[in-house]
Amino acid sequence: CLTPDLLHLHTTENTIVVVADVFRATSCMVTAFAHGVASIIPVATIDECRVWQERGYLAAAERNARRVDGFELDNSPFTYMDDRIRGANIAMTTTNGTLAITRSRNAVKVLVGSFLNLDAIARYLKTEPYDVLVLCAGWKGRVNLEDTLFAGALVDRLKDGFAMAEDSAIMANRLYCDGKNNLVSYMANASHIRRLQRLGIQKDITYCLQHDLYDVVPVLRGTALVSMAV
Ligand code: MLT
Repeated sequence: CLTPDLLHLHTTENTIVVVADVFRATSCMVTAFAHGVASIIPVATIDECRVWQERGYLAAAERNARRVDGFELDNSPFTYMDDRIRGANIAMTTTNGTLAITRSRNAVKVLVGSFLNLDAIARYLKTEPYDVLVLCAGWKGRVNLEDTLFAGALVDRLKDGFAMAEDSAIMANRLYCDGKNNLVSYMANASHIRRLQRLGIQKDITYCLQHDLYDVVPVLRGTALVSMAV
């Protein structure tokens, strides 16, 4: 599903949804768990995030790729490589990523995917009997290149064991095969790359495009994401 606005066309029954927001929400969450964060509550709105903050949670809020005033954390993965947040429970709202997660709640399981944990996600999915839907967070309802490439990469790792039910899976996979040898240059003109570059956030781009850095599989349990032991 290349944008959450098309999610209503898909069934999430008997399905594990893998939500991807490569730049940067899901890459950030994977990094946070890899660095010892205990849980992340993804919420759709800034007001909900503030409620968790008032309950004592550390709170991360991003809109249009910037930290929202009044919140401690942003959604750069580098923010979470910090011993001070080891063991923390965090509430997070982002423009697209957390919204996509909250929209997926009816699925059998909701996992958080990124290039950083691609292999861990693929290995885990092969152990499950369910269908898989990759939900690309996109940008405000629009399809984007980076999340589509992630979907194509996951299809690539799974295609021996799964049938591709949707043409979008074939398209995403062909795109990934076309660009995989140099994702950074393949993505040079992508809209969110230009957006992040305008804000001087270059290092997050190259970081988020690295494959298989972490062996973590974040899963939604109730309202919170936790890291699943795999
Ligand atoms: C999002 O959720 O849309 C992104 O994480 C935006 C960003 O890169 O800050």
